[in-house]
Amino acid sequence: MRTRRRWSAADVPDRTGTTAVVTGASSGIGLHLAQELARHGAHVVLAVRDPDRGVAAAARIQSRVPSAQLTVRRLDLSRLASVRAGAEELRDRFPRIHLLVNNAGVMWTDRARTPDGHELQFATNHLGHFALTGLLLDSLRAAPGARVVTISSYLHRLGRIDFRDLHGERRYSRYRAYNQSKLANLMFALELHHRLAESGAELASLAAHPGLTATGLGRDFPAPVRRLGSPLAPLFLQPAAAGMLPGLRAGRTRARAPRRSGRRPRGPAPPLGGVRAPHRRTPPAVRQPSRAVAGPFIPARRRRARRACDRHGRPWSARRRT
Ligand SMILES: NC(=O)c1ccc[n+]([C@@H]2O[C@H](COP(=O)([O-])OP(=O)(O)OC[C@H]3O[C@@H](n4cnc5c(N)ncnc54)[C@H](OP(=O)(O)O)[C@@H]3O)[C@@H](O)[C@H]2O)c1
Repeated sequence: MRTRRRWSAADVPDRTGTTAVVTGASSGIGLHLAQELARHGAHVVLAVRDPDRGVAAAARIQSRVPSAQLTVRRLDLSRLASVRAGAEELRDRFPRIHLLVNNAGVMWTDRARTPDGHELQFATNHLGHFALTGLLLDSLRAAPGARVVTISSYLHRLGRIDFRDLHGERRYSRYRAYNQSKLANLMFALELHHRLAESGAELASLAAHPGLTATGLGRDFPAPVRRLGSPLAPLFLQPAAAGMLPGLRAGRTRARAPRRSGRRPRGPAPPLGGVRAPHRRTPPAVRQPSRAVAGPFIPARRRRARRACDRHGRPWSARRRT
């Protein structure tokens, strides 16, 4: 009888000669992803908001993978000026980028605004990555078989995009803001996937959700949640070395990118909303996103939307005005 082998980091093909950019690589899932990509031969750019933490992370990776080729770049996703400057540096230095992992994130932060006037979680988790990806598109399209992997979360299922109050100005809830940002991550990954596929680009866009993972993501949780959560955490949380597997799997390079997989986030099977007790860990698998994400992308709706555009992709109403 044939048994299916579980997917593991050992299945990542040799990435020698490729360049990977990982945001938020100074800790948690991003740090482990960067380490694994470096172990497989990629030149890894640690795109971090705090260069000192980035250098410390690079030293840690180097101590474990002596052959690692690493570059640390400052990139604060909550400041669009920093994203622009960081992307420009990356474009100059790396005309070809084979993998961009949009991983950095903050969760459940107190109400705060970025210098650009955006809500902090939405700005860091979604807007910064949206801008970064757009600014790096030329380098990504220049690399054969390149991929953009956006780390979302199972909590996208609880998310709702509140277009009337996108930045929580009227009413701020730290939980809703995070869920909204993670839904936005997934919608972005899917729409990018569709647009790339329609334009015939070789570049593919995928999304991943890590499953509950022991990282520093909870640093902004309210104190009672932290007090209650920490004794229970070992029962539910997987180590970061496991939490990075869905992102790693989504980002593995193939000669022909599987177009369909951009529709679904990769992650552990979620019987309890993504919670996996360590002894019941499963390998990353392809999952359906919620209807909130899939809704706007059903083929009939896209066909209708396309029919409403001229051959340059402009809406008819806009064309008539010009
Ligand atoms: N852990 C989980 O259970 C879980 C579950 C679902 C999804 N996720 C997602 O997984 C991703 C990684 O999170 P994690 O669990 O590894 O948490 P983490 O250990 O806190 O890592 C988050 C990383 O993002 C960086 N970051 C925060 N704000 C930034 C900014 N403005 N600019 C650039 N980098 C910034 C942090 O940098 P510093 O080191 O400077 O703070 C850190 O390196 C996030 O997108 C998160 O939403 C995690």
